[in-house]
Amino acid sequence: MGKEKKKESFKMKNTIYILLFSVVAALAATSCSRDLKKPGRVFIPDMNYSPGYETYSESPISTPEGYKMSARKPVEGTIPRGWVPTDEKIRTNQAFLMGYMAKNHFTHEPAKWDEEYAKAAATIQNPLEATKENLAKGKEVYTIHCTPCHGEKGDGNGQLVVLADGSDGPYTAVPPAYTKRLPEINDGNIFYSVSYGKGMMGGYGFALNVEQRWQVIQYIKSLAGITAATVAVVPVVVVAKK
Ligand code: HEC
Repeated sequence: MGKEKKKESFKMKNTIYILLFSVVAALAATSCSRDLKKPGRVFIPDMNYSPGYETYSESPISTPEGYKMSARKPVEGTIPRGWVPTDEKIRTNQAFLMGYMAKNHFTHEPAKWDEEYAKAAATIQNPLEATKENLAKGKEVYTIHCTPCHGEKGDGNGQLVVLADGSDGPYTAVPPAYTKRLPEINDGNIFYSVSYGKGMMGGYGFALNVEQRWQVIQYIKSLAGITAATVAVVPVVVVAKK
């Protein structure tokens, strides 16, 4: 490379640096705003400013009554999720309560397990009639969710507990046979265990709605040979865990 050419490229580089510097300086000078509470130039406003309204900001669309806050009042007659109304009619009516029990009517903190298990036993009964339809639906739920451990007959020998060849399965706990365990507890206890789990059994509150839980409870009781008639004579026994 000749001396002249070297000089030229040096000049070019300088020009580029000067240009770059002035662009950066110009940006720096203009992009900040004098008002500290406001940004200067915003390049992609869509990303900075969400088109959604802030919860408690004013909305340009007002209700017919002139209410303008973007967070609207809940529709009359609606209630927050998980809230059990103090209304006697609801607290004492099983059918009404059904709708709420799926939520957090009972807590399931491990420390309160015994207390809540006993509370469920004392306060709730199966509100469904043991009709053929309910039993059939219960059987369906049972076959899908419970047979792997409890076994088709409810004897506790599901395919996870005892393998097809008769050897020990991968599941480490052994579920009790329903014929033994169910007569010792009542509907509320079972409801609680099926909803929130017990020991090595997980809860099914997430997968089964309240009605399905009662249906499967009816079905497992039928597996254990407990009929409505026998329930009537068996006194309510609240059995706390261990
Ligand atoms: C992963 C295996 C497993 C599955 C699946 C399972 N269970 Fe259990 N179940 C157990 C075990 C283990 C116990 C014993 C728990 C204990 O007493 O510590 C048990 C206990 C029970 C009891 C007695 C509860 C009590 O209060 O003593 C009932 C009722 C019951 N299961 C119903 C069901 C129903 C209904 C389903 C399906 C929706 C189901 N289980 C699914 C493993 C399972």
